[in-house]
Amino acid sequence: TVYENQQIASKAVAQRIASLIRQKQTKGELAVLGLATGVTPLRVYAELVRLHREEALSFKNVVTFNLDEYYPMLATAQQSYVTFMHENLFNHIDIARNNIHIPDGTLPLEELHAYCMVYERKIEQLGGLDLQILGIGRTGHIGFNEPGSAPNSGTRLVTLNDLTRRDASRDFGGKENVPTKAITMGIGTIFKAREIILMAWNGKKAPIIKKAVEGEISSEVPATYLQLSDNVEFVLDKDAASEL
Ligand code: GLP
Repeated sequence: TVYENQQIASKAVAQRIASLIRQKQTKGELAVLGLATGVTPLRVYAELVRLHREEALSFKNVVTFNLDEYYPMLATAQQSYVTFMHENLFNHIDIARNNIHIPDGTLPLEELHAYCMVYERKIEQLGGLDLQILGIGRTGHIGFNEPGSAPNSGTRLVTLNDLTRRDASRDFGGKENVPTKAITMGIGTIFKAREIILMAWNGKKAPIIKKAVEGEISSEVPATYLQLSDNVEFVLDKDAASEL
């Protein structure tokens, strides 16, 4: 779906999330959301906060799982995705702290494998993700599933691509300060979501959106795997869609 601009698109995505949450509330069920970081979902989160404040949207029945976190990364660091999510969403809504899950960037290396398995299992025990929202990196990554990621990959430790680290360098005051690794949900984890919305704004994303939507399905551009699913919607502004 191509929208006139990212404000309108973000509001539409926020409305979808809000109606899922409300639908689940009327049934007395939990809404299980997969969340993303980056600049792309910022207006969606701002709109959800507005809906909470002005239209009494409650998040008490919401459980969230974030896609990824840098590794190693202290939760309290300014660049952590824990800080990002709290500053942009969680601190402003009534979600229960125990219902928030973000991969833990502080664990020792030898504990990571078991930790990632538990992360997957927690999602499954809640009945799976109702909705996963995604951005896209210029390498074609979703979450931090960089080129080479397998379609059935699970939550795991990955090595970040050079372009991804370059794109993150502003947040870290130089590429050399960007962690070389991250923990990410896998392509397989994302695929199990009942609904997936990938968002992209502005012309910088146009070439990778073209590859993701029209390119040959290949591990070289992990977002092309999304072509294999019927549950995926690309939500774009005009500029991101300009090469389609
Ligand atoms: C990071 C995140 C991704 C995100 C991507 C795009 O690499 N791990 O989940 O989609 O950046 O970021 P932005 O939305 O800032 O362009």
